Amino acid sequence: MTKLDINSIQKIFQKRAPNSHKGNHGHALIIAGSKSKIGAAIICAKACLRSGAGLVTLNIPKKERIALFSSVPEAMTEFRGEKKNWTSFNSFAIGPGIGTNKSATNLLRLLITNVKIPTVFDADALNILAKNQHELLNLPQKSILTPHVKEFDRLFGKHDSESERRITASTKAKELHLIIILKGHKSFITDGEKSFENTTGNSGLAKGGSGDALTGIITAFLAQGYEPLNAALLGVYIHGLAADITLETQSPESMLITDVIDNLGRAFKKIQ
Ligand code: APR
Ligand code: MG
Repeated sequence: MTKLDINSIQKIFQKRAPNSHKGNHGHALIIAGSKSKIGAAIICAKACLRSGAGLVTLNIPKKERIALFSSVPEAMTEFRGEKKNWTSFNSFAIGPGIGTNKSATNLLRLLITNVKIPTVFDADALNILAKNQHELLNLPQKSILTPHVKEFDRLFGKHDSESERRITASTKAKELHLIIILKGHKSFITDGEKSFENTTGNSGLAKGGSGDALTGIITAFLAQGYEPLNAALLGVYIHGLAADITLETQSPESMLITDVIDNLGRAFKKIQ
């Protein structure tokens, strides 16, 4: 297992070309949020926009659009339940705050049927997959799963220790051709061949919304054309680094995930 340090991250990171335009940086579609959980979608979209995606479209329920327009005017929207054309997107994420009811399950199935490029599956998407295990075999190859401990155990069965979970994560990543990020203090990232342990981040991230930001960040890197494993490594590292920078002005208690997103810029400056 490799410790993920700044040297390995600097090798992965690709600088933006001075003459680039938004078309070079990809268009991300994020399926997130529901009534009472629209914050998850907002956090995810903000983090994605702060991580370099050229364009971000959010799939949300139409009723929630005002909250979104006023807090992330940079994001575009498509409304849940309306007919979709998903052919032009360069990356996809599904899960934060979508719930696990029948319509969320159908939406996940629609995505799996139509999308063939690596996708980020997080939060409720993982909970839906846990209840529909056979769908794990149908995910696009090299998709990225981002479970925290409870989501991981729902997906792959109860484990007694972190080391056992790491072994299962590697086995399942290889078997299912996926990348698995087992989140927590020192997140573990594996594609089944190689495994990594993150060295950034702090307990200020132990709050609702932190995972949603990570999903947005990784989706931005996929949109920009990073290999899925590199998108996962860079995402986990910079998410933690922005949280560590936030400790310069906040305490772990007072830190908000929006502070962390605002510090992504300073984190990017450190890795280039
Ligand atoms: N040290 C370093 N990093 C940490 C620490 C810590 N002590 N605690 C948390 N983190 C990081 C994790 O590595 C991960 O990237 O913060 C993020 C937390 O992600 P989640 O556990 O998914 O948390 P979040 O999504 O914000 O909130 C929990 O997730 O699955 C849903 O429905 C669930 O509402 C719940 C929500
Ligand atoms: Mg989460």
